[in-house]
Amino acid sequence: MSNEPIMALPQRGSGEGANFDEIIPREGTDSIKIDRVKDECGSDDLIPMWVADMDFRTPPFVFDAIRKRLEQGILGYTCQNPPYYESICRWNKEQHGMDVTREMICYVPGVVSGIFLAVQAFTEKGDRILIQEPVYHPFCFVPESCKREVVQSSLRRTETSFAMDFETLRRDIKGCKMMILCNPHNPAGICWKKEDLQQVARICAEEGVVVVSDEIHCDMVFRGHKHIPFASVSEEARRISITLSHQDLQHAGHRGKSGHRL
Ligand SMILES: Cc1ncc(COP(=O)(O)O)c(C=O)c1O
Repeated sequence: MSNEPIMALPQRGSGEGANFDEIIPREGTDSIKIDRVKDECGSDDLIPMWVADMDFRTPPFVFDAIRKRLEQGILGYTCQNPPYYESICRWNKEQHGMDVTREMICYVPGVVSGIFLAVQAFTEKGDRILIQEPVYHPFCFVPESCKREVVQSSLRRTETSFAMDFETLRRDIKGCKMMILCNPHNPAGICWKKEDLQQVARICAEEGVVVVSDEIHCDMVFRGHKHIPFASVSEEARRISITLSHQDLQHAGHRGKSGHRL
């Protein structure tokens, strides 16, 4: 994917058998998308497109797995067994060419929760954390709610999209403890190029900055484009980063993600 203004679209899975015309009423079901639209957006009279939550059915194989668990009749504590880790390692290798080992993986209940945890683990109250605006809004509110200072560094506006502004980044990163990177970028829809990520890694390594790379959209890019994991671009990128992935793909209410520390 180049630096074009593209919103990511699914590359894999045919969606065969899915009925995208079926209307499933969700009002009054504690759906954040539907039941909070007035609180969030000021009116009920809106098509709620403000959250990554689709209106078509979750795929049958997901339901089958949940049903199997429910039929057991006990909803006790769960753990992550070897197949859980193996599937994450295999997926990263096959889809993204990344060597991830079991020891690097840490279960987190969601990507935003993972950002919270990383902020608390690697920074102190009052520390500076850099984000690149415009960006997914929790990048700002998570550090702020942990009483960290948010440094709002800007991406550079191009004719059709946004690009990294390394001069600005070099200036703004001084004194920061962490950078929260969005790769692929939401909302600009950019898969950052390898050279861009290498440059980010170099700058952050020089300044002793930990990079938290939100890669939730790594599996949804346009055909012909490629997601490049931040941690894969250089040894220093691997050494200084935490990667948070993957998108639930239409079962956000059923939580559990993986983060990996490299
Ligand atoms: C860049 C980005 N990060 C994180 C999330 C949400 O992650 P989670 O629901 O796992 O907390 C989204 C949802 O749209 C997103 O766009």
